[in-house]
Amino acid sequence: MSRIPMIAPSLLSADFARLADESQRVADADWLHFDVMDAHFVPNLTFGLPVMQAVQAVSPVPLDCHLMIDAPERWAPGYAEAGARNVTVHAEACTDPRAVARDIRAAGALAGLALKPGTPLEPYVEVLRDFDTLLVMTVEPGFGGQEFITEVLPKVRRARELVGTGHLQLFVEVDGGINADTIEQAAEAGADVFVAGSAVYGAADPAEAIAALRKRAAAAMQG
Ligand code: DX5
Ligand code: ZN
Repeated sequence: MSRIPMIAPSLLSADFARLADESQRVADADWLHFDVMDAHFVPNLTFGLPVMQAVQAVSPVPLDCHLMIDAPERWAPGYAEAGARNVTVHAEACTDPRAVARDIRAAGALAGLALKPGTPLEPYVEVLRDFDTLLVMTVEPGFGGQEFITEVLPKVRRARELVGTGHLQLFVEVDGGINADTIEQAAEAGADVFVAGSAVYGAADPAEAIAALRKRAAAAMQG
C-alpha cells in the first residue's frame, strides 16, 4: 500500500511575464498546477485556454488544470484536448459532474472533481467512481498564499479510506496552504498529490523546495 507523493507547483505564484521559464524551473515536479479563475465562481481572474495552450507547448511538466469557473462543462474538454494530463472541475459549479468526467476522459485527460472546504464528500462518493482525481481544497479557492485549513483533513482521511477499501480509485490531491509545515499532516491524512504555489515559487530555489516537500510527504506516508 505504498503511496508515492506527487508535487504540483502552482503557476499562480509564478511570474506571469515569464511562464515558459517558470515551467522550466520546476522541471522535476510531477504535475504543473494551472489555476483557471473566471471572476464569477471565485473573486479573482487569472488565465484561460489560450494561455494554457501556450504553456502546454513549452512545459516539461504535464499540466494539472484546476478550473475555478462557472459552467465548467463548457470549457473542461478544451483543456483536455489541448493536452492537459488532468482537468479538475468544481462540484459546486457542475450540474452533471458525471457527464463532465466522461467528456474530459473522452478528450484524453484524467478527470478531477474539486470540493471547497465547506463542501462535504459524502454526497459525491458515488459520482467519484467516474473520476480519477479528487481535489480537496484546503483553503477557500481564489488566491494563493492563504493559510491551510486543518479542519478539512477528515475529508482527506475519508477519501483515503474509500480508496483503501477499493470503493474509489483516484488520486487524493490537496490544494492550498501546503508548505513544509503542513504537508506532513496532509500526507498522513491520505493525500498523494500536493499542490504548492507560494511554497515552491516563493522559495529561492524551487527545485530544492520541491525535493524537500517530496521528502517530508514520503516520510509522513511511511510513518
Ligand atoms: C487557490 C488555488 C491554489 C493556489 C495555492 O485558489 O487553487 O492552487 O495556487 O497557492 P498556495 O500554495 O500559495 O496556497
Ligand atoms: Zn488550484
